[in-house]
Amino acid sequence: MTIFDKISRTLQELGVSDAQGVESLFAELRKAAEHERAELVARGTPQQAQRVGLCKALRDRWLARKGGVLSQVDENWLKPAGKELKPVVGNQFNKLRRFTANLEFEKLVEALPLQQEAAPQMELPLGAAGRAVPWDLTLPGLRRPLGSIHPVTRMQREIEDIFLRLGFWIESGPEIESTYYNFDALNIPESHPSRDDWDTFYIDAKTVLRTHTSPVQIRAMEKYGAPLSIIIPGKCYRHDNPDSTHSPMFHQVEGLAIDEDITFADLKGTLDFFVKMLFGEKVRTRFQPSFFPFTEPSGEVAVSCFVCDGQGCRVCKESGWIELMGCGMVHPQVLRNGGIDPEKYSGWAFGLGVDRFAMVKYDINDMQLFFQGDLRFLEQF
Ligand code: FA5
Repeated sequence: MTIFDKISRTLQELGVSDAQGVESLFAELRKAAEHERAELVARGTPQQAQRVGLCKALRDRWLARKGGVLSQVDENWLKPAGKELKPVVGNQFNKLRRFTANLEFEKLVEALPLQQEAAPQMELPLGAAGRAVPWDLTLPGLRRPLGSIHPVTRMQREIEDIFLRLGFWIESGPEIESTYYNFDALNIPESHPSRDDWDTFYIDAKTVLRTHTSPVQIRAMEKYGAPLSIIIPGKCYRHDNPDSTHSPMFHQVEGLAIDEDITFADLKGTLDFFVKMLFGEKVRTRFQPSFFPFTEPSGEVAVSCFVCDGQGCRVCKESGWIELMGCGMVHPQVLRNGGIDPEKYSGWAFGLGVDRFAMVKYDINDMQLFFQGDLRFLEQF
């Protein structure tokens, strides 16, 4: 007979008639309480949410007013005890009460270790007599929340896939960059406004958080020489206030192709193919003159709105066109800075904002939604 069977009987039924017998019964109970507490701590719990429940179950098993171990001891041992045994049972009962209070079952919540790697486990519910009963197979299973790919990552991967199929490879570079690679080597003179504190996060006078992925152009030229066909996805940082189209941290993909006889026609053909793969066959590209210190000539690429086919709608702000990226032929001085002979080689480059691409492609009107971690938004992708 276990101690839990014994608490459902009176002392008389158990044949206990002296102080020594009473004391040894209570000692058995204290040992059982201590053992159950230690067992729970040793077992831990696979999920944070189960901690509170497990501790409460242990507390209720011992201390619940109705059916708890102590209340059964009160009912079956203390109340019916004869005159001569009552003082010793009462004394032992109080001692047990203090003992279980000191075990602080509720506070176990903090002590209970989480089983990081453990497979989901089912707890064996304890019956009234303290014995494990079989699992309740009618209970729903443990739900394992599934994540999804962030829309910006998804967009970046789509872009990468298209260029990988064209024979480009993926290159990366440091986000903490020297002013040489971020500016000087790209022909951006000291006087250029983007070198201003306002636009650039300076770490010290010669180190910045890169403001674009273009510095990796120079690093790759130095590393591999020509010919070269790479794309460079990565994070960039600018001192821009967060709003619906700006973020202080955003993502770019840079493209760079260098070889003999590369012309603007190669750039146009490649980007036209790229946007058709991304937005659909019907989309047309428009190249307009622009300026970047590291490309000459430079251009801005826009695509005919793939939602209204150029008729004008909310997505293209009624213009029929969506501006997508900057591009141009790599400036001869930039090739030279990368150790490549501009007399022999020429090249083109482009740089696009992945976050803005994702906004256009998925019809999202506020860039901040990408960075707020709101599951109601993220679960749609
Ligand atoms: C550049 O950064 C050039 N390096 C691109 C380039 C590369 C041109 C190679 C020629 C040859 P720009 O400053 O326009 O260009 O930025 C490129 C894109 O980054 C923008 O079109 C925009 O989509 C994105 N972008 C810029 N600032 C932010 C910002 N604060 N938040 C989100 N996206 C931004």
